[in-house]
Amino acid sequence: MDDIINISDLLINWYDKNARILPWRVLPRDRLMGKKADPYYIWISEIMLQQTTVATVKNYYRRFIELWPTVIDLANANETEVMGEWAGLGYYARARNLVKCSRIITNQMNGQFPRTAHCLMQLPGIGPYTAAAIAAIAFNHQETVVDGNVERVISRMFNIHDPLPISKPKIKSLAAKLTPVQRPGDYAQAIMDLGATICTPRKPNCQLCPWHNHCLAKVAGTATQLPRKSKKKIVVVRKGHVYIGRRQDGAWLMESRPNKGLLGGMLGWPGTDWLEVRPEESPPCKGSWECLSDELSHTFTHFHLLLRVHWADLPNNVTPTRGFFLNAQSFNPSTLPTLMQKAYNAAFRMNNWR
Ligand code: ADE
Repeated sequence: MDDIINISDLLINWYDKNARILPWRVLPRDRLMGKKADPYYIWISEIMLQQTTVATVKNYYRRFIELWPTVIDLANANETEVMGEWAGLGYYARARNLVKCSRIITNQMNGQFPRTAHCLMQLPGIGPYTAAAIAAIAFNHQETVVDGNVERVISRMFNIHDPLPISKPKIKSLAAKLTPVQRPGDYAQAIMDLGATICTPRKPNCQLCPWHNHCLAKVAGTATQLPRKSKKKIVVVRKGHVYIGRRQDGAWLMESRPNKGLLGGMLGWPGTDWLEVRPEESPPCKGSWECLSDELSHTFTHFHLLLRVHWADLPNNVTPTRGFFLNAQSFNPSTLPTLMQKAYNAAFRMNNWR
């Protein structure tokens, strides 16, 4: 046990000198001066970081906090505007859940975040990982936070050769044993930083690692092979069509996607379902639709999508069977989900639209 305590201390001491400066983070020296983490900031950052890199999240996070500085501001926000700010981050259910969650906290919890992982998990969009991260980082609870970085660090530290995801329970239990009673929030951030900056996937910098004397993979020379991963599942490819139409007056034919499902509730181009056998063409209105020669490809978590992009200049008197026209002043492609931006950019390159 002594050893274990020493090992966590080594990491905390390293973090005190090397913590990354991140806009949501309270650095150890500021914490010493009594500064406390704001659970709202930690929550927003952790939700953004769920599927997105720190480098990308930083800018989105700053803008988000500028627009909605408190949970009450977010609860009063216009959901469409929030979705627009989220455009580009992907996994849009996260943004819808943020708004839902902020309304529950504001209206039913007096604006106060629950403090325990168990209570945090009752809220929409907060799973075990995020609940543990918020409880540890914002409230300094002794919770163990295991993300991809931590899986790598622990697999190497204990030279675990079972592949992920089979090794997950073992990793979690070893990671929990290392989590200290003192400063568990800083420890959680320290182990993530170690994985992100020193114990990196391809070229770990073992010389600079505070754990280099204790790391079993370093001794065995296996660090770069770990963690092992089970073979990928069969890749599913789905296909579909999208239609980008612009009227002579500059208005764009758009459609709100159904609330449930991928890109739910987001604005996009009208299109077909996405199926493993390409669906029939189904333009949203009459017009001289042309098809781009290159298909658009986009990867979601569970499938690749190949889209045929059709475009047309439409007359002002056209009547669409689906969707609605958005006037040119209200159209801002950067608020569209990435897939729809890609389709727009592809069609745009083909045209003199400006
Ligand atoms: N990845 C996920 N959460 C993080 C955090 N709080 N700090 C750094 N990287 C992270």
